[in-house]
Amino acid sequence: MPILTIESTCDETAAAVVDSDDKVLGQCVAKQDELHRHFRGVVPEVAARAHLERILPVIDTAMNQADVAGADLEAIAVADRPGLAGSLLVGLVAAKTLAVAWQKPLVTINHLHAHLYACQLAVDRPVYPCVGMIVSGGHTSLYQCDSSLDLTYLGGTIDDAAGEAFDKVAAMLSLGFPGGPAVSKLAASGNPKAHAYPRSMIRDDGFDFSFSGLKTAVRYSIVGPGQQDFSQLDLSDDQKADVCASFEAAVVDVLVTKAAKAIRHCQADRLIVGGGVAANGVFRSQLQDAADREGFDLVIAPADLCTDNAVMGAIAWQKIRRGEFASLDVDIQPGLQR
Ligand code: KG4
Ligand code: ZN
Repeated sequence: MPILTIESTCDETAAAVVDSDDKVLGQCVAKQDELHRHFRGVVPEVAARAHLERILPVIDTAMNQADVAGADLEAIAVADRPGLAGSLLVGLVAAKTLAVAWQKPLVTINHLHAHLYACQLAVDRPVYPCVGMIVSGGHTSLYQCDSSLDLTYLGGTIDDAAGEAFDKVAAMLSLGFPGGPAVSKLAASGNPKAHAYPRSMIRDDGFDFSFSGLKTAVRYSIVGPGQQDFSQLDLSDDQKADVCASFEAAVVDVLVTKAAKAIRHCQADRLIVGGGVAANGVFRSQLQDAADREGFDLVIAPADLCTDNAVMGAIAWQKIRRGEFASLDVDIQPGLQR
């Protein structure tokens, strides 16, 4: 019997029905971009309310596609950490309610581990053990992964996540939200060497990242120190493209350098990469170059599984196989970063 998986950690409401071979029988993702665009970032209260409106129709759609009823399910899985508190609560309460109503066991999922598991869904060969990298709107982290559920945190961002930096730069240039796709589209026609933006912590011993200095450097390069007002910004499309290309080059340089370093440190022969920023074309091709040069196997989640979705919740099967079920009084863990 398949499982129902639910994802509502940030601003995507998603559900999927997945069988024990990770085959997707039904799935639905409701994005909220249009609700947050006006604010140039995700507003937690708005996100939680939208999840509440959408969660049942989204679950219905996935279940109808799969042509299953509650009685046909093996378990209900839900991402309960990390994420926005209000958003997580909607998913967890929905999952608990269905678990009680349908008398099915509940399985809780770490959203970050699920992002990495998206790579396992992309290929037939086993991807674990490996080094795992998550580059999303909320996270930039590296893990040593002994299995899909046994991960050791190597390091992560000490301030902004890579995706958040993309979103902030897009906001400065009035490119809309989410910013990553818009920045990378414009970057394609710009000169990555036009601005010498910093590559913070690139030569550090550890595996931490910092992108707030880069964000500030971009700001100073377009409005000058101390100025906060971007509304009067008078940059040509070519100038904006140069900012985007130079910014993207700096982010990608740091990410690729640290990922390759983690591979050497762990003596691993495979890197798996998940999260929204992994959809970035320059990042993907430079990682592939590094993999070819250094001789490691690279698996990047396919674009539709990079951004938040419930299909990656198929990782719940791994927990079910270990007998790791959650009790009905389990609570959300919004701040858990690892
Ligand atoms: O994984 P995700 O959907 O949500 C989180 O869990 O955070 O990632 C969303 C992030 C956003 O910051 C978005 O701007 C970024 O991924 N993103 C990209 C691209 N597509 C999405 N960043 C750079 N280049 C892209 N092509
Ligand atoms: Zn995510």
